[in-house]
Amino acid sequence: MTAPVLEVEELRVRLRTPRGPAHVVNGLSYTVGPGETVAVVGESGSGKSVSVLALLGLLPPRVATVTGRALLQGEDLLTMRPERLRQVRGPGAGMVFQDPMTSLNPVLTIGRQLVEGIRAHGDVDKAAARRRAADLLGEVGLPDPERALDRYPHELSGGMRQRVVIAIALSNEPALLIADEATTALDVTVQAQIIDLVEKLQADRGTGVIWITHDLGVVAGIADRVLVMYGGRCVEDGTVDDVLEHPAHPYTRGLLGALPDLARPGPDGVVPDLATVPGTPPPPTDLPAGCVFWPRCPVRGDARCEHEQPPLAVLGTASATLPHRAATWCTEGSS
Ligand SMILES: Nc1ncnc2c1ncn2[C@@H]1O[C@H](COP(=O)(O)OP(=O)(O)OP(=O)(O)O)[C@@H](O)[C@H]1O
Ligand code: SF4
Ligand SMILES: [Mg+2]
Repeated sequence: MTAPVLEVEELRVRLRTPRGPAHVVNGLSYTVGPGETVAVVGESGSGKSVSVLALLGLLPPRVATVTGRALLQGEDLLTMRPERLRQVRGPGAGMVFQDPMTSLNPVLTIGRQLVEGIRAHGDVDKAAARRRAADLLGEVGLPDPERALDRYPHELSGGMRQRVVIAIALSNEPALLIADEATTALDVTVQAQIIDLVEKLQADRGTGVIWITHDLGVVAGIADRVLVMYGGRCVEDGTVDDVLEHPAHPYTRGLLGALPDLARPGPDGVVPDLATVPGTPPPPTDLPAGCVFWPRCPVRGDARCEHEQPPLAVLGTASATLPHRAATWCTEGSS
């Protein structure tokens, strides 16, 4: 079996807040294989972004306590020295944030930012790095890449900027690409181009991808596996078919609008976004003692649901390739 690109074990993140410690990520374990795409879904505040920022050491150290293991190609990101982590970001792991302006320096040209990134991680002279930067901009579909190199971020449209950020993330052919709502703000044509590009990179270079999104159409279209987060925990994971067609956790069923068929395109070809589950998630400063979904669960049981945390257990409905797991005492209706 091929070694995973990323192996996350028991990742926990606690943040210091004025209301006391916030338990934002609570024992997350998953792997990303070479060329594999793992989609991470869940409502706002479920800990998706914090869980990936923690991997790359991007949370403020005075506020965040991160524990567990996160092996990137065998090396633990969580115990790495800061200088090593800086080297790894880029060639090892590239990240694309939702808002491209948070990743781009407004006072430097696109070319300078790309060239600096390329040169920081490889023994490349300036002219060669500039040629590589132009090639990359061409690959992400930017018109007239040579000219774009000399422009500043504010001179580009939002879609163009996002493509530049993706070009920067891809510039080092990362083993792992983390896309956090990377295409959410883009129109569907640009989104499709970017997805094609990432898929090409995966096919060419075996890049493992973590794709955080609210868009079930994207999940159904690109993911190999889906990880459903709630209250900082993985409440369900499995192949895209298992999770979308046989959701086992009441929360996943709620997200899918209770009807798994909603995950598929309708007659108009449009796949609906994640449905809304009535109620709101618990604050990470005050998580329930038992099942994290208990206060909102429409099929909750007795004292067990309220007081005992259900483990992430393998279900009988698993596909032959990968286990289908859910953290609930009740798995009725999952097949
Ligand atoms: N710097 C911080 N200090 C305190 N709490 C924080 C901080 N960053 C995030 N949180 C809290 O951590 C929880 C998880 O936030 P996170 O940004 O990971 O959610 P998310 O799943 O990415 O949501 P969204 O879909 O809105 O992007 C939220 O309750 C949020 O308020
Ligand atoms: S453990 Fe109980 S409360 Fe939690 S999701 Fe399952 S049925 Fe609902
Ligand atoms: Mg987020």
